[in-house]
Amino acid sequence: MTGEEFCQELEKTVYESLERIAGASAANEPASDVTIAAMLVGALKNEIEASEEAALWMITAPELDVKVALACQCGDDARHYRLIEDWLRRMGHDLSTVDPLADGYTPMFKFLESLETTVERLAAGQFTREGLAKARNQVFIEYCKAKGDMETAKLYEDTIQPDENYHHELGRRLLPKYADTPEKQELARQAAVKTLNLAEELQEIAHLRRGMSKAPGC
Ligand SMILES: [Fe+2]
Ligand SMILES: [Fe+2]
Repeated sequence: MTGEEFCQELEKTVYESLERIAGASAANEPASDVTIAAMLVGALKNEIEASEEAALWMITAPELDVKVALACQCGDDARHYRLIEDWLRRMGHDLSTVDPLADGYTPMFKFLESLETTVERLAAGQFTREGLAKARNQVFIEYCKAKGDMETAKLYEDTIQPDENYHHELGRRLLPKYADTPEKQELARQAAVKTLNLAEELQEIAHLRRGMSKAPGC
């Protein structure tokens, strides 16, 4: 199978799963005490983790095009962190005691951090995780609109979401070039599937414990 054929197959698997995850998020109402602001505070953790993961991988990526793509993602997700933080402050939230990493890193970050090859990182981190962010953000945007919070919806729709789409596309564009042997394709497939499984598991936990089913991604 060529790298492109492999990606088309992977795309099918990933999109089916993302549709299921987004459908489950859309179908679940958040707990009544979970506000949009609380979801945005949760999003800070996703953004800082996405930025840090890209920075870690950038340093060890031997391929220049991958290195530059990761550097772009690192900067964009850090900028999203700042935008969300500024937005929360403008809405009157005191963030002086908020530290998204105070309780450590998520299982998703720890899994992604453990990936050592370029094809696994592109498949899991950029193609799948950023695809997941896109799907989650879309559910969040619809939820904000339904609640009449057009400005938060606009922040995501106009600024954050196009960047997440770009990160996802970077993975899609680079993966065929590097997933060019059956062995590398198998590594990439397994990393993407594990990311999706983790996402579903985490979504389940978020829904059951915190009623945060519509929270945005990164
Ligand atoms: Fe991102
Ligand atoms: Fe982001």
